[in-house]
Amino acid sequence: MKLPLIIQGGMGAWVSGYKLAQAVSMHKKCMGTISGIALDRILAWYLQNGDPGGHFLRALNNFPFPEISERVINRWYCKNNVVEHKRVPKLSLNPSVDFIDLTICGNFVAVWLAKEQHNNPVSINYLEKIQVPLIYSFVGVIMAGVDYITMGAGIPDQIPELIRSFIEGEEVKYNIDIQGSKKKYVLKFNPKEYFGCRLLPKLFKPNFLPIISSNLLANILVRRFREKPFGFVVELPCAGGHNAPPRSYKSGEYIYGEKDLVNFEKLNELDIPYWLAGGFASPEKIAYAKSLGAQGVQVGSIFALCDESEIEQKYKDILRRNGYNNNQVIITSSYSPTNYPFKIAELDNTLSDSVIYENEIRQCDKGFLVSFYIDDKGHIHSRCSAEPIDSYLKKGGKIDDTAVARCLCNGLLSTVGKGDIDRHAIITLGDDLSFLKHLMSCAEDSYSVDDVIKYLSKNN
Ligand SMILES: Cc1cc2nc3c(=O)[nH]c(=O)nc-3n(C[C@H](O)[C@H](O)[C@H](O)COP(=O)(O)O)c2cc1C
Repeated sequence: MKLPLIIQGGMGAWVSGYKLAQAVSMHKKCMGTISGIALDRILAWYLQNGDPGGHFLRALNNFPFPEISERVINRWYCKNNVVEHKRVPKLSLNPSVDFIDLTICGNFVAVWLAKEQHNNPVSINYLEKIQVPLIYSFVGVIMAGVDYITMGAGIPDQIPELIRSFIEGEEVKYNIDIQGSKKKYVLKFNPKEYFGCRLLPKLFKPNFLPIISSNLLANILVRRFREKPFGFVVELPCAGGHNAPPRSYKSGEYIYGEKDLVNFEKLNELDIPYWLAGGFASPEKIAYAKSLGAQGVQVGSIFALCDESEIEQKYKDILRRNGYNNNQVIITSSYSPTNYPFKIAELDNTLSDSVIYENEIRQCDKGFLVSFYIDDKGHIHSRCSAEPIDSYLKKGGKIDDTAVARCLCNGLLSTVGKGDIDRHAIITLGDDLSFLKHLMSCAEDSYSVDDVIKYLSKNN
């Protein structure tokens, strides 16, 4: 099997939607990745907004269990401009039928659409930190024939078993972390029972690429996986999105040092293909990655700013202009409730602006980034450092966590125009935007996936 040279990284939420992933995967040496974050809400949004173009309905009509897809259509599809939309359920440890249906079908349709009109591989990306939807998401994407799954933000050591059990028609399980407790909560799902069938359709096993940032994590996964990992994405700290925390953190600042560097000689000894991510969006950097021993690269920001990405046009225009003029500030923030460093593009009228942030309502109504904890009576609850401070403290949360915490669920959905109207966007990008000068002829110019691939493929 030919491995891709360039992976377009998964960019949540819905920055890398099916259109971007499909456009990238149309090119032979490249693989597009859909973001697997909040696909329940993305599907509900398109259906509630009349599904312009009919793409989501077309994909749903190909879902192998029509009782489920019809239930989703009947519940969420609005033919005319309906003003009052139904509320999509918040993530919880006791997911409702609506949540399960939307998650399975949302994941199915995203992959199904990205795979239309070509035969090249397509991948999907998840964050290990967002654990609850995983068992339902995997069922959806594997039924749609996803080729690769990438996963960062955690230790994804349960994934090979999750994939195996579904492919072999068994019940699927995921151990959910409970803060302050060694015990895990086991979330279970029986696909055959849910779909009311004795046999599942023929399923293919996708390749799994954990996203790592250290030799240590590579070695842990090699030890814990029953089979040798198919490959790794090795992400450096200048990458967009969440980054791996450095060894050192002082007075609110992340300090990356020698100990955070990857030892490529040691990595090459594992004899596992890997792709380098974080500031590799140039033909020279791709050649450099290959010289270190990489199979190729994973790039994100260069695609986040191209025409096919789902970032709202008004933000893309400003970010490209600022980036072209070398005055787009990117910081490594501690804004994410996950406690992982999170790259932020500073932009007026978004949550990077402290005045906008101070005036934003604190309310946790989506719940993707909550942490679960156990109370004195042994009951499990959830909390998020971006929820109202009083309630977070009452739940045993620490005041320090709340100081700068932003609601990424709402902020990221607003970035792609799929959020609530009273919420502001938050934008993440990698440190390196030097590619813009090679793709744009002036600050107002734009560029497409084809332009990116033509540029990156020079001499590669
Ligand atoms: C807008 C944006 C959103 C991202 N979201 C995710 C994500 O949800 N999950 C993930 O594993 N990586 C995410 N990333 C990281 C990319 O997949 C990729 O590894 C990274 O952007 C590579 O570095 P570069 O931006 O310098 O090219 C995101 C990056 C960007 C720019």
